[in-house]
Amino acid sequence: MAYNLLKGKRGIIFGALDEQSIAWKVAEKCVEEGATITLTNAPVALRFGEIQKLGEKLNAKVIPADATKMEDLEQLIDQSMEALGGKIDFVLHSIGMSINVRKKREYTNLNHDWMQKTLDISAISFHKLMQTLYNKDAMNEWGSILALSYIAAQRVFPDYSEMAEAKALLESFGRSFGYHFGVKKKVRVNTLSQSPTWTTAGSGVKGFKDFFDYAEEMSPLGNATADECADYCAMLFSDMSRKVTMQNLFHDGGYSAMGINPSVMENG
Ligand SMILES: NC(=O)c1ccc[n+]([C@@H]2O[C@H](COP(=O)([O-])OP(=O)(O)OC[C@H]3O[C@@H](n4cnc5c(N)ncnc54)[C@H](O)[C@@H]3O)[C@@H](O)[C@H]2O)c1
Repeated sequence: MAYNLLKGKRGIIFGALDEQSIAWKVAEKCVEEGATITLTNAPVALRFGEIQKLGEKLNAKVIPADATKMEDLEQLIDQSMEALGGKIDFVLHSIGMSINVRKKREYTNLNHDWMQKTLDISAISFHKLMQTLYNKDAMNEWGSILALSYIAAQRVFPDYSEMAEAKALLESFGRSFGYHFGVKKKVRVNTLSQSPTWTTAGSGVKGFKDFFDYAEEMSPLGNATADECADYCAMLFSDMSRKVTMQNLFHDGGYSAMGINPSVMENG
């Protein structure tokens, strides 16, 4: 059911790779709620992913951009404003990748060149994106910028490895840039900390099924799905959340507030 929450708004959505991607669902939801959007992903993902299909379905221009490259981000923002006919109201950063995780390196034996790459792709890209939007004055007043995070930023999940530090950095960039964007541009910046979700990035984490099942059992409301995440994102992009900023917002069925859940003890 649509509420026209985003009628007349213009957005940029990063990170839709395939139908499983959280960004895919967010893009569909935003258009359903009345927004016009551009879609973007790394050039390599454009070649191998299915994003063009989504672009056709949603009537959205697909613009390649490596989120670690300032010149790509500048072009993306210029082209988006041109395609959408004005400044931007909302942006979703839905990007995560760790080479150490992909290559199954133990946390106690990480390759630090790969770690730099992980931090650049998964966290510093958020700063680069915001800096580009800020300096181009590309956001409309009362706009909303959002990045996806995970609770390993606060608690230890050993198999999440260096992505924990990437998420901690990502959340910190959200708070710090949220100050500057708030005072100067009346734009809000938040991070959304999502439940484990079955996607390419998610299922790349070792033992993901156990991760997922444990969180499902611990959360009084169960894990939040990608579709539910899309609902929450649409609300956070809408005028219904104008004074929410510099927050890390848990979207996890209550998981983050739990200590012990008796059902986990019984079934464990
Ligand atoms: N799946 C989960 O369990 C889960 C839980 C909490 C948070 N998240 C976060 O949600 C976000 C989206 O992940 P997802 O689970 O939908 O997986 P996904 O694999 O579908 O999305 C990750 C995206 O990052 C893109 N990307 C990688 N390198 C890039 C670069 N250099 N420039 C631009 N884009 C690049 C990929 O192409 C891909 O589209 C990530 O930040 C992830 O950490 C996922």
